[in-house]
Amino acid sequence: MDKVKTLRCASDKSISHRSAILSSIAKGTTIIKNYLFAQDTLNTLESLKKMGANIHIENDKVVVSAQGKYLKEPFDILDLGNSGTGMRLLSALCAGQNFLSILTGDESLRKRPMKRIIEPLTQMGATILSRQNFLAPLAILGKNELKGIVYDSKISSAQVKSACLIAGLYSNENVEFSEPYKSRNHTEIMLRAFGVNVIEESTKVSLGKNRELTGNFEINVPADISSCAFFMVLCAIKPNCEALFVDCLINPTRSGMLKVFSDMGVNFEILNKRTMCGEEIADILVKYSKNIKPFYIDGSILPSLIDEIPILSILALFADKESVVKDAKELRVKESDRIKSIVQNLAMLGIDTEEFDDGFIIKPNPQKKFQKAYIETHFDHRIAMSFAILKALGYDIELSETKSPTTSYPNFFEHLKYLGS
Ligand code: S3P
Repeated sequence: MDKVKTLRCASDKSISHRSAILSSIAKGTTIIKNYLFAQDTLNTLESLKKMGANIHIENDKVVVSAQGKYLKEPFDILDLGNSGTGMRLLSALCAGQNFLSILTGDESLRKRPMKRIIEPLTQMGATILSRQNFLAPLAILGKNELKGIVYDSKISSAQVKSACLIAGLYSNENVEFSEPYKSRNHTEIMLRAFGVNVIEESTKVSLGKNRELTGNFEINVPADISSCAFFMVLCAIKPNCEALFVDCLINPTRSGMLKVFSDMGVNFEILNKRTMCGEEIADILVKYSKNIKPFYIDGSILPSLIDEIPILSILALFADKESVVKDAKELRVKESDRIKSIVQNLAMLGIDTEEFDDGFIIKPNPQKKFQKAYIETHFDHRIAMSFAILKALGYDIELSETKSPTTSYPNFFEHLKYLGS
């Protein structure tokens, strides 16, 4: 029997952003192992450096030495490229500084909604100017002492929650955030590692009294389950393409996809569960899975698999019946309008779909025969990687570009070659 292939996928993007931001405002030296060196997270490092953070790279580790929460006025504009997380979390950091910061990004980011963070950060006392309709570039005039906030968010969003928590570090008042369904809690977990008291009660989170961060420890970033997802789906569909995904993040606020995998009959095993820097991780073995069943995704599970919808839609093409996504309006404001990107590209392949305001239905054809298609990625990394997996399964597909994966997964095509061969 062939030896099972082992893959350590790209490091977690969400945790990498947070490790860079929080270590830049902690007292002491923090070492970040397995930081994701991808375009989005490199832009965050560059922006922090522009604000005077002392960051350098030593033997693949990011070493951050800081003296506390207050940074220096940037001499130039901060460019967050394609990253919503970068812009929204750094806006909160800038809200707590006594100076002006200007934040911009690429064409996609300049079209994404920023009202969701402008509103709470303004309530806390920052002055924020934007283009019309609350779009970036943003000009943020912060204050070292912000007001507290009790914010009841209409959307479930880790970025909005993290913005309130990060800005809350610059306040001595009550800081409380609640959302309809619980979103990823990496900021809460990491703030605790830095010595800040964060209280999580179901969908509500609040900051305790100590809001000073202490570094002098090592953060080890696990593999990103959202990046593993592409190759897990490949292994499930391609015969003899079994692989062990090591150091994979399985934090329950991120691993909704594994629940959907179970429902769909994907053949996988979770091995060697452990905790690393407060985050649950495991090695996951994924094998060829014969009878794929459809999914029905809605409501509370969505935040825990929101970034995996594009690749789960590819998996749905191999199911025996139709799959449904509902309550997922947030997909319309990701790196592209992902509902459109998925539905329109599936139509190019000759797949029957139905589009709603907040989701879609995929009606797979029983023969699994698709038309030759030109796939428009809209420069959205997750759309490009999802359809690249379908291409690797032998379908006649041309992608409009193959550069966007560098935003989150620079060696995606190398890993695809390793598993695809
Ligand atoms: C992220 C949160 C999610 C996710 C994004 C990364 C984060 O967005 O889609 O890719 O790191 O906080 P929302 O918080 O807007 O749902």
